Amino acid sequence: MLWGSRFKTKLNDSAMEFSSSLRVDINLIEEDLLVNKAHTEMLEQIGIISQDEMKIIIDGLNTIHKEFEEGTWKPEPEKYEDIHSAIEGRLFELIGDTAGKLHTGRSRNDQVATDLRLWVKKTIKDIISGLNNFQVTLLNLAEDNVETIMPGYTHLQRAQPISLAFHLMAYIEMLERDKMRFNFAFKQANVSPLGAGSIAGSTLPIDPEFTSWKLGFEKHFSNAMDAISDRDFVIDFINSCVIGQMHLSRLSEELILWSTSEWKFIKINDEYSTGSSLMPQKKNPDIAELVRGRSGKILGNYVNIVSVLKALPLSYNRDLQEDKEPVFSSFNIYSSNLKILNKIIESIEINKERFTEELKGDYLLSTDIVDWLVLQGINFRESHRIVGELVKYLENSGKNFSKLTVDEMKKINPIFNEDILKYLELEKSLGRKQSKGSPNPEMLKNQIKKWKSKLVEIVKNETNFYK
Ligand code: ARG
Repeated sequence: MLWGSRFKTKLNDSAMEFSSSLRVDINLIEEDLLVNKAHTEMLEQIGIISQDEMKIIIDGLNTIHKEFEEGTWKPEPEKYEDIHSAIEGRLFELIGDTAGKLHTGRSRNDQVATDLRLWVKKTIKDIISGLNNFQVTLLNLAEDNVETIMPGYTHLQRAQPISLAFHLMAYIEMLERDKMRFNFAFKQANVSPLGAGSIAGSTLPIDPEFTSWKLGFEKHFSNAMDAISDRDFVIDFINSCVIGQMHLSRLSEELILWSTSEWKFIKINDEYSTGSSLMPQKKNPDIAELVRGRSGKILGNYVNIVSVLKALPLSYNRDLQEDKEPVFSSFNIYSSNLKILNKIIESIEINKERFTEELKGDYLLSTDIVDWLVLQGINFRESHRIVGELVKYLENSGKNFSKLTVDEMKKINPIFNEDILKYLELEKSLGRKQSKGSPNPEMLKNQIKKWKSKLVEIVKNETNFYK
């Protein structure tokens, strides 16, 4: 126990069990050991401990690390309040009284905040590399489908012809914004609280600058009270997961729709599909459904952490111990979703010809005809009205644009002539798009090339668990 002399009795076993965070914060062991070492070195630098003592403590911490990795030391939640107590307790067993110097000028309040910031920073690096990797997977698929025509939807009604590449490139943009959000959260986490003590620093000449530098933080805190009670970086991190996850869920939903018999646009590989225990013919997109279905958990984590912080008086309160579960859970769910969705996309099969016949003469070309009329000098609103009449005529006669003759069009409005026929060719529709950010295949090819030249090198040099 790190405290106890002022108490008449020890903590009740049930209170210990109730309050111990060890089962959760054991996840921070690497970070806690790093923080312990940096703090020890700092104590030596400012002359509070000798070089020999520093060496004894650091050797002890290294032994704990080794024992933990080898599984020879397993801290028990019934015995320790948290990872900090467990490490200090073990250090006493290993090196004796010198261990008593480790916590000089420090509190678990600044310690735990430092640990968690380090963990969040490490994790964000991994996530960003996972996002880079996923973007490359989407770009590869896009590259192969620049001319794969599909209907673009608004209100889930066919709107204008687009290509699959164009659709996928929308996700490239979303994922890029996700990276920006994670980078922002990284910056927020990149401030060292170590040296803030329990609430108001120390009368000892503790050097936060040294530990901040040693641990690789960009800077250290300015106000000790804020340093120990600030969890904004946690909220920023989970918020990045919430929005990133929402994007993954939208994509999953589209994959699920596109793989239905109604759409017949893609096939999800058998490796990422499941069958029915009753209906032998079934092939279900369960994995994509689970990616979609786990969104609520991350959003729940966001609500959880904001509720912990709301109305919490300054500064440290034990409520803050509850910050770790939502952080770890959000990371676990989001990163496993990212990983599996990447695999689904890598192995997806596209029915490239699915829409080429079906969309010939489709009403989707209406806006192109409006544009043609505008180029003939007719005002836009009038052009819109004329094409609306054409569509009404087609609907009444059970036809579509491909069956429409120029004579019939002339009856609706004499301005029509043979020139309009080329506007009714679906294959040429994408190529006619002139405005920036449209599905023009040439523009898309350029965009894909630019994105790839930016990302492929980065991904090649990264090694992480997403690969
Ligand atoms: N387990 C605690 C947490 O995660 C560590 C800090 C405890 N501080 C204290 N003064 N009781 O927040």
